[in-house]
Amino acid sequence: MSDLSAAQVSHDADPDRREGILGNRPNPAALLEHSPMLRAPVLDRLQDSSVLSATQFDNELLVELAKLAAYLQLRQFPAGHALEDKILAAAFFEPSTRTRLSFESAMLRVGGKTISVADAKTTGVAKGESLRDIGQMFNSYADVVVVRHTEQRAIEDLTEYLKIPLINGGNGSDEHPTQALADWYALLKWRPEIAFGKLPEEFRLNIGIIGTPGNMRTVKSFLTLALLFHENINHITIFSEMADPLGDEIRELTNASPVGINFSQDLQGSLEYLDVIYLNAIAFLGDGYRHLGTEFALDGDSKLKPDTVILHPLARGAELGLDLDASQHNLYFNQADGAVWIRQALLLSIFGRVRDVVPSTFLG
Ligand code: CP
Repeated sequence: MSDLSAAQVSHDADPDRREGILGNRPNPAALLEHSPMLRAPVLDRLQDSSVLSATQFDNELLVELAKLAAYLQLRQFPAGHALEDKILAAAFFEPSTRTRLSFESAMLRVGGKTISVADAKTTGVAKGESLRDIGQMFNSYADVVVVRHTEQRAIEDLTEYLKIPLINGGNGSDEHPTQALADWYALLKWRPEIAFGKLPEEFRLNIGIIGTPGNMRTVKSFLTLALLFHENINHITIFSEMADPLGDEIRELTNASPVGINFSQDLQGSLEYLDVIYLNAIAFLGDGYRHLGTEFALDGDSKLKPDTVILHPLARGAELGLDLDASQHNLYFNQADGAVWIRQALLLSIFGRVRDVVPSTFLG
């Protein structure tokens, strides 16, 4: 058998074996059915690279990463040995549930090892140690480091001292590129056709983003990757209470894109048009967390179209009703679940080990 989807569907009818996951659970095989062969040379572009920003990704790299993630998810790749000689440092100077744990889980699932900082107070930072010196330690102790930091500049500063790849796990209000990979992995499983050629207008997506791309890192990185699928997006509508939710940097990207960007404060009146809603209400604004846009809440009574899906990077606030969890609108748990697979795909690509886990008959 020479294509991935046929091989995998036959030996794993239910790739989401974890039955506790509520909501919409699109089958990863659907993504591979559209394009069965993995293009390893495209993934090779990530080898030895740091991942600092969503702007590093283009359409073909994102799609090939998502396909590799789908391959791994379908096989439920057992704790293999592909990265057994590698150590990942997960250095989180700001709280995290999903990003740190899913990176650690991803690394362990491909045979790698992890060391972790879960709280800056347990490091030399508490004694005034500089990021420069901490960077030197990462070089000595690990082969790749995932860093989350409250300071936007921390990631860029660290790149000056690091000799190993650095993955941005969220830097202040700036970027969260691997969260955006997880977001789009969920969407590409749900509607694989948006990745493969231009669709008739009636099938193109209308996306609503609740939040402010100018100062919310997940929203900014999600929007950056959304623009890669401009052929199949009709409109993106930003719902925000701020006068200028984009800011200069993201406005430059949207101005250069053919995608129409709308602004609205009428979420409830817009629901009948939206196919995808990206919801996030927590922003880090320099001195702490703020809950923004909680007036733009969704719950089981919201007048959503039957097939509308909701993404949310979590943690959840009052903006996302618990009564949506069991509905087909809930793509947010699948989004969080898929983060493990897309991060495995990313790590394998960074270490140039894709060919160690994918048989040559599936590689193009
Ligand atoms: N989505 C996300 O970044 O979640 P955590 O803050 O739990 O890592």
